[in-house]
Amino acid sequence: LSNGLALTPQMGWNSWNFFACQINETIIKETADALISTGLADLGYKYVNIDDCWSSILRNLKGELVPDKKAFPSGIKALADYVHEKGLKLGIYSDAGAFTCQVRPGSLFHEEDDAKIFASWGIDYLKYDNCFNLGIKPEKRYPPMRDALNSTERIIFYSICEWGVDDPALWAGKVGNSWRTTDDITDTWDSMTAIADINDKWASYAGPGGWNDPDMLEVGNDGMNYSEYRSHFSIWALMKAPLLIGCDVRNMSAETLEILSNKEVIAVNQDPLGVQGRKISATGNNNCSQVWAGPLSGERTVVVLWNRCSDAAKITAKWEILGLETSTSFSVRDLWKHETVADNVFGSLAASVEPHDCKMYILSPAVSAVSRSNEHLQFVIP
Ligand code: GLA
Repeated sequence: LSNGLALTPQMGWNSWNFFACQINETIIKETADALISTGLADLGYKYVNIDDCWSSILRNLKGELVPDKKAFPSGIKALADYVHEKGLKLGIYSDAGAFTCQVRPGSLFHEEDDAKIFASWGIDYLKYDNCFNLGIKPEKRYPPMRDALNSTERIIFYSICEWGVDDPALWAGKVGNSWRTTDDITDTWDSMTAIADINDKWASYAGPGGWNDPDMLEVGNDGMNYSEYRSHFSIWALMKAPLLIGCDVRNMSAETLEILSNKEVIAVNQDPLGVQGRKISATGNNNCSQVWAGPLSGERTVVVLWNRCSDAAKITAKWEILGLETSTSFSVRDLWKHETVADNVFGSLAASVEPHDCKMYILSPAVSAVSRSNEHLQFVIP
């Protein structure tokens, strides 16, 4: 959608994965505070997004949406002011149907009024869900809210959440700034890997202004181990997925913070070229030895060697499958070690990868041409 937003994938936090319906204004404020104090906001995590259950069960007598009085007694405008004062942005949630998924009022046929009230509160982002949709096609239900948001005085990020049911990549580029490509993520290895594979199919449709959305991050919610969360974050970054943190940032472990604040991985996600990286090859037992890669600005290439099996594996990426000239040499930077591990690699690189873990590299054209005697065909990363 060309509203000037989403030139790179959106970054921030959303309440659903950890809190579900147990939200209130204190949690939202403390989350904004924590994004600042942990340094995450400075790394780009700017959107503080309230998901379902913020609204009261009924509209008021004027037909307006009203926040739940117990959970948000000060109202959404006050919350937006609080979040804006910290240099952050506030997101909210509604539904392109009669009700939201948790049976609060939906915005179908109320698009103009609801967009107006969101704008009057100072909202910066709308996630728009798909429950109770009366069997009307998403292609019909999602554009009216785009138009309603566009006709307000605010510029509001428009996140389409129709769970990939009607191949949104094919039509949502002109409607929203991102579109979910799959059903809801759960905090498990099986869910995360299955979602990565589905989202991968739509890679060619993503770009500045509109991104495939494989759902929010589960990093830090305890259902996966460190290696698995590192894989989750690396692949989401490579796929140019929205990086929306889904854990309780007020109480993160050091490991969780380390993953979420990896600057070099974030920079891959936010690269201005905006090309979604893809699964390039899957070999070995059950196709577990995977290479995911994509182009970055500056003639660089990001490569993830991803071991999806439960035994350690040596995974090789040949220049050929990466679409690179075999004779070109690259320096190799390891984005999790934060180290340039080789200066001048030709032909391929390989590394041993622990179960469910990954290695993530950026290949940059080598600075100086060196003699062929320095050639490292089949370079194995130490
Ligand atoms: C749907 C969405 C989720 C979340 C819930 C809230 O399932 O896909 O991301 O917003 O609704 O009820």
